[in-house]
Amino acid sequence: MRLGGILLLLCFVLPASAADLEVRPLFKDNTLRTYIPLPFQVKGASADFTALTAVTVTGSSSCRTLLDPHIPTNFFVKCKEPAEITLSLSYLAKDQIRKVTYGPLQITKISESGEVVDPGGDTGPSAEWLLGQNLYHNKKYSNGKTCARCHDNPAEKADRISVNALNGAISSINDMKGISLTEAEKKAIVTYVQSFK
Ligand code: HEC
Repeated sequence: MRLGGILLLLCFVLPASAADLEVRPLFKDNTLRTYIPLPFQVKGASADFTALTAVTVTGSSSCRTLLDPHIPTNFFVKCKEPAEITLSLSYLAKDQIRKVTYGPLQITKISESGEVVDPGGDTGPSAEWLLGQNLYHNKKYSNGKTCARCHDNPAEKADRISVNALNGAISSINDMKGISLTEAEKKAIVTYVQSFK
C-alpha cells in the first residue's frame, strides 16, 4: 500500500527527459533582448501533451512569463535586465505534471545605451517616430500583415535599415511585394527602427 503510494507519487512528478519536449524560440537569429516579449513554443511533445501549466525563470528577478492564452504550446518571456536565465517548464501530459528545463539563455540589452528607445529628447517622441512606430506595428499592408508580424524585433534591423534597403526589400522579397509606402512613410519607418540601435 505504502509502496503503491510512493510509486503513484513518482508517476506524478516524473521528470521528462529533455528529448521529450523541445523548446524553441519563435523569432529569428535567437536575438534575446530586454524589454521585448519573447515568444517560445514547445515542440515534439509526446502525443500525451495537453498544455503548459507553468513557466518560471531562474537567474534573474527582472523577468516575467506569460502562457499564451490561446495557444497551449506557446509562452512569452520578458526581461528588464540583461541576464543569463534558465526556463523551467511544467506541463500536463496524460494527467501528469511533467517538468523540463531549457537554457541557459543570454538576454542582452535592447540597445547600446540600454534605453528602450530614444525617440526625441526632452520633448518626447517626434511625430515622425510615432508615425514610423504605427506603420511598423499597426498598419496592415496588402498581404494583411504588419511589419512586426514578420519582423517582431525591430532591433534586429536597426543597424541595417535605410530607405534604400527598404526599397530593395520591397522590390525583391516576395513576402514584401505589394507593400506600398510614400517616401515620408519610409523615412518614418527608418527613423523608428534606427532608434533601437
Ligand atoms: C509577410 C512577411 C513580411 C512582411 C509583412 C514584411 N517583411 Fe520585411 N522581410 C521579410 C522577409 C522574409 C525578408 C528577408 C529575410 C530577412 O532579411 O529578414 C525581409 C526583409 C526585409 C528587409 C531587408 C533585409 C535586411 O535585414 O537587411 C527590411 C529592411 C525589411 N524587411 C523591412 C520591413 C518593413 C519596414 C516592413 C513593413 C513595412 C516589412 N519588412 C514587412 C518578410 C516580411
